[in-house]
Parts: sequence; structure tokens; C-alpha cells
Amino acid sequence: MSIKVCFLPDNVTVDAEPGEPILLVAERAGVFIATGCLMGSCHACEVELDSGEAICACISSIAGNCSELTVNIYEDPTW
Ligand code: FES
Repeated sequence: MSIKVCFLPDNVTVDAEPGEPILLVAERAGVFIATGCLMGSCHACEVELDSGEAICACISSIAGNCSELTVNIYEDPTW
């Protein structure tokens, strides 16, 4: 079963497989997520889920327990 992932603020939706890395899904959607360390420590890649939870995209993947996911990419001009 695929999961519909919607990226904000661009409002682009793509299908993803459970367990797919968020960065990979974003790339396929043509959405840019700024990254730095890729190890979960610098928080350059931080995005917010529709639950309000802020996560580091570089170490996170698509959860398989829902059919839709919204990923809100912060517009942070310092990155
Ligand atoms: S790129 Fe540094 S925390 Fe994700």
C-alpha cells in the first residue's frame, strides 16, 4: 500500500512506500529540503508533520501506519 505524502508549502503530493526515507520522497517530488550533517544532529533538515511533530528529515522515513502524511518544510532563510 502506498502513502500519499503532501509537501508544504509547495503543496506537491507524491506516492511513497512505507519505510522510504523522507529525503528520497522529497527528491522525487521535486521538493528541496536543506540538509547539513545527514546524521540527525544539525537540524538543518527539520520538517514538521501534520501532527505538529518536528523531525529531522535526514534520519526519518515514511511511517506505514497512515495513508496520508503532510510534511511541512520550514521556510528558513538562514539555510
Ligand atoms: S541534515 Fe543535519 S540533522 Fe538532518
